[in-house]
Amino acid sequence: MPPRPLLITHCRQLVTLAGSRPEGSGPRRGRQLRELGIIRDGAVLISEGRIETVGPTRRVERHPLARQAEKISAREFVVLPGFVDSHTHLVFPSSRADEYEQRIAGATYEQIARRGGGILSTVKKLRRAPSQELLRQGRNWLAEFAAHGTTTLEAKSGYGLDLKSEIKILEVLHRLNREGPLEIVPTFLGAHVVPREYKKRSQAYVELLVRRMIPTIASRGLAEFCDVFCDHGAFTPAQARLILTAARVCGLEPRLHAEQLARTGGAHLAAQLHAVSVDHLERVKRDDIRRLARSSTICTLLPGPVFHLGKAAYAPARALIDAGAAVALATDFNPGTSPTVSMPMILSLACTQMRMTPAEAITAATFNGAHALRRADRVGSLEPGKQADLCAFELCDYREIPYYFGVNLCRWTLKRGQAIYDATGRFQR
Ligand code: NIG
Ligand code: FE
Repeated sequence: MPPRPLLITHCRQLVTLAGSRPEGSGPRRGRQLRELGIIRDGAVLISEGRIETVGPTRRVERHPLARQAEKISAREFVVLPGFVDSHTHLVFPSSRADEYEQRIAGATYEQIARRGGGILSTVKKLRRAPSQELLRQGRNWLAEFAAHGTTTLEAKSGYGLDLKSEIKILEVLHRLNREGPLEIVPTFLGAHVVPREYKKRSQAYVELLVRRMIPTIASRGLAEFCDVFCDHGAFTPAQARLILTAARVCGLEPRLHAEQLARTGGAHLAAQLHAVSVDHLERVKRDDIRRLARSSTICTLLPGPVFHLGKAAYAPARALIDAGAAVALATDFNPGTSPTVSMPMILSLACTQMRMTPAEAITAATFNGAHALRRADRVGSLEPGKQADLCAFELCDYREIPYYFGVNLCRWTLKRGQAIYDATGRFQR
């Protein structure tokens, strides 16, 4: 027997993101980012993991399926779509708290990387780490993601940098995805940095990526996207173009890390390649903003690394939004630059440091995040037919999600209608 329908009633604010979309079905831009489609005293009717209907409680309660549904009140909660975290490096062997302390003492991220620390120090440990250990840690982190309202996340490889170790990471991601409850979208980031064994021979590593690693990963169905860290100390735009062009031929859609540490032209390249997303963008110039605004590429802003590295310059969110770019927000969860799973914290940073409005930040973290993962037909808003992915915050107003920071007020999270986190004990089905 399929489980009984579930009826969530009396949400103080039900943030649907189901507003009018004059430009069709793309990501939200400009003023559309502020349209949250809020229903006061709202209800969601869920059947077989999908949203049946959404509306004012009094109306939804009259739906034919509502009579047999299990009813759960959300009177004290703001309810919204689960966060779609479109940029994470979920699988890594251990923290880099030692480097954190070195940076506090004055060393820069780039200096530490040049000394053999940084990404390469994580690579060294990951190559030796058993899959079981990576799985165990992955599961623990996923529980934390769920506890902060995230229901879908992208996860990159990129700490293996040889075929065997990259496959090990991607297989761990596939296993975690199969186990659930969160949905994980895998990205191949073999082009994170040049591994030690190819030091001073970056072109030979690019060849290896293009000729061997990408075709193997793609033919085994281990990734959906291919990413390149296009920056000083990593890959040039010319190398990124080669890698991403080869990836696309194999069916992996391109995305990029660009303009984080230095302005290298990665944003321009992303727009030219119609990359799915271009992420970071702290160092973009006016011309880049203009190009990105005209492109289909989603600009994924990551205030977490700026905060954690103690830098002053956040990405110019206001200029991007006002120019008409499609902006998303993500954690960039990773041990080097952004050790957080908390989308609410990312919203706080986006609002206070990047001057996004709370409504813009929520849209960027849900609806546009779903577009950045090519999953907008299923997740990112509360509309009939979409997956019943919801989170509830014990608050009076959606603006309080970023307003309160450093405290987790998420009380329950549903994935496909099933509770994956429940601090209230009311979802014992
Ligand atoms: O997104 N920029 C490249 N990758 C990560 C950092 C990874 C690391 O330092 O381990 C980032 O910031
Ligand atoms: Fe990253």
